[in-house]
Amino acid sequence: MSLEGVTGAGKSTLVQDYARAFPRFLRDEGVRIPVFYMETPSPVTVKGMAAAMLEQLGDPAAHRGTQWSMNSRLIQLMISCGVEIAILDDFHHLIDCETNRVLTKVSDWLKVLIKETGLPFLVVGIEDTVEQILDVNPQLSRLFAAREELEPFEWDLSDEACVCEFAQFVTYAEEAIGITLPDDLPRMELLYRLHYATAGVVGNLMNLLRFAAMIAQEKKVDTLDLSALASAFDRRLSRHLKGKTNPFETEEEHFVASSPPPDAEAPSKRKQAVSIAEVLTAR
Ligand SMILES: Nc1ncnc2c1ncn2[C@@H]1O[C@H](COP(=O)(O)OP(=O)(O)OP(=O)(O)O)[C@@H](O)[C@H]1O
Ligand SMILES: [Mg+2]
Repeated sequence: MSLEGVTGAGKSTLVQDYARAFPRFLRDEGVRIPVFYMETPSPVTVKGMAAAMLEQLGDPAAHRGTQWSMNSRLIQLMISCGVEIAILDDFHHLIDCETNRVLTKVSDWLKVLIKETGLPFLVVGIEDTVEQILDVNPQLSRLFAAREELEPFEWDLSDEACVCEFAQFVTYAEEAIGITLPDDLPRMELLYRLHYATAGVVGNLMNLLRFAAMIAQEKKVDTLDLSALASAFDRRLSRHLKGKTNPFETEEEHFVASSPPPDAEAPSKRKQAVSIAEVLTAR
């Protein structure tokens, strides 16, 4: 299976959390590793990849031996440690960033490893890059029948479920960080501005809220105000999300993006299909 998504979508957090739920443990016959997780090294070579995987499995001589003996140890160890799934994060490192070419020797080596171990592999990477790697190797591509994408939160006022999902995540984030978002704006308006400010990307949202929380802490207040969000946006997101105006600085009751993305309509701009009450009930 492959999992793709934009940077900050939460791919690594998701798979690392999954791996943590099935930690390695010791049995009489040795260590068991039900979920094998590894970040693909960069730059990556066949030998580097094999050594990194051996090291992650606990081989004390991970970097030693010929390619042939490393391959053989790797296959043996994966099977004898009872690996049930191998997760390779940052799989886009198989694309050489200087030439933008896929490192076919590594992808071919991986194809053999998958076939020889007979284990399920999950490769995780930036949007479109995993597809690019698989496209140049039809035999490897065939092994990845399931292709999934972790998408940012959407904002579509005609879709109640999508607005409630974002609203619920923001509420969880408030609880996790231990902050309260300002209530001087209607919640729907605030959610719309948060979505615009972060493009619905979890990493951006957490970055914004965590930094705003730090500002509030410095000011020794429990509730964030809009100026803390505005300052956090300027200092943490504006350079990453180029071309966006700061949605927390406006004097207007309703923020209107200068060039709104097609799926990000301001609550004031169209008949509101989702009521604030509905969103608040979902909190
Ligand atoms: N479900 C979640 N709940 C809370 N915070 C999250 C969640 N998912 C991701 N984050 C936060 O978002 C940030 C980015 O997440 P993560 O590193 O998982 O993204 P990614 O998709 O792997 O990005 P990249 O492609 O750049 O590696 C992290 O700081 C993480 O703490
Ligand atoms: Mg990641």
